[in-house]
Amino acid sequence: MKVMVTGGNGFVGRVLVERLLEDGFLLNGQPVTSLTVADMSCAGLPEDSRITCVEGSIADASVLAKAVAGEPEVVFHLASIPGGAAEKNFELGLDVNLTATVNLYEACRKFSKPPRMVFTSTIAVYGSPMPEVVTDESPLKPHISYGYQKLATELLLQDYSRKGFIDGRIVRLPGIVARPPQPSGLLSAFMSDIFWKLKAGEPFTCPISAEGVAWFMSVPCCVNNLIHAASISPEAIAPKRDFTLPVLRLTMQQLIDGLAEAYGEDRKGLVTFEPDTHLEAGFATQPPLVSDAALALGYQHDGDIQTLIKRATSVY
Ligand SMILES: NC(=O)c1ccc[n+]([C@@H]2O[C@H](COP(=O)([O-])OP(=O)(O)OC[C@H]3O[C@@H](n4cnc5c(N)ncnc54)[C@H](O)[C@@H]3O)[C@@H](O)[C@H]2O)c1
Repeated sequence: MKVMVTGGNGFVGRVLVERLLEDGFLLNGQPVTSLTVADMSCAGLPEDSRITCVEGSIADASVLAKAVAGEPEVVFHLASIPGGAAEKNFELGLDVNLTATVNLYEACRKFSKPPRMVFTSTIAVYGSPMPEVVTDESPLKPHISYGYQKLATELLLQDYSRKGFIDGRIVRLPGIVARPPQPSGLLSAFMSDIFWKLKAGEPFTCPISAEGVAWFMSVPCCVNNLIHAASISPEAIAPKRDFTLPVLRLTMQQLIDGLAEAYGEDRKGLVTFEPDTHLEAGFATQPPLVSDAALALGYQHDGDIQTLIKRATSVY
């Protein structure tokens, strides 16, 4: 099986790449025989003879052409400019999140056989404030450029799939944890930092209140869902290709209590709260999510807080 991962050296991509290369791993019943990773840099990726690394921006036509030259049978399209950066630099967001993505679809349309594509979208397509309850029927009303760009490329992937050019599968990701503790500039970084700080027994200043409620998913669970998305039969996916992944919806206090259960009761005393109005609005009011259709199709959340914590801190 020939596979390509764009953004394969990012936070989620690295874990996906490692999983695809695991001994005995089968994607849709077949071993991964070649894996093209397209990313700005491939530094730090595993040494494996199956990997071909294409370094550079997929917004550059020659880089994209090189990346797709082998006509992968399954494409995981993760490369993206995150929300904050796309808001600050409109042209960069447009170039990568929209134009390069459409160019990737166009390249795939010309393959001798339509590839299967898993596209990572975002819950930012719901906008802010989010609906009181999010269901499969909830309106999609982005409020930032990143959300608009992801929604536009969701819609186009639906059309390329309708035309039979690509067999697309869209998964909207919630906040994935726990990103390694490096300065990322992401507004949501605190959602990951709390895991590492309390695991290490260090003080943590929480920028949202104890009652603030957010959607969580561990990076291994996310990767399970991406692989699952690639494995759903064309017949089962055809009626509905876009799914918001099921989540664990937790208050910060529930998460802190869970981390204290995992690492020691003293962790509770390490947290102080300094709520920030902007972060409260963006990350502390995530409503109930009814994801029956996604669950019925086999997408999963982490199950319980302790599994979330164990998985979230197990890979980086
Ligand atoms: N992590 C989350 O919480 C989250 C939430 C919602 C949606 N998503 C989506 O999931 C996907 C993966 O997220 P992530 O957290 O791993 O992101 P990330 O920013 O850690 O990784 C993205 C990767 O894409 C690469 N990239 C960016 N522009 C590129 C370009 N022009 N050409 C080639 N490569 C490029 C980056 O170098 C990086 O390695 C993204 O599409 C993102 O929008 C993630």
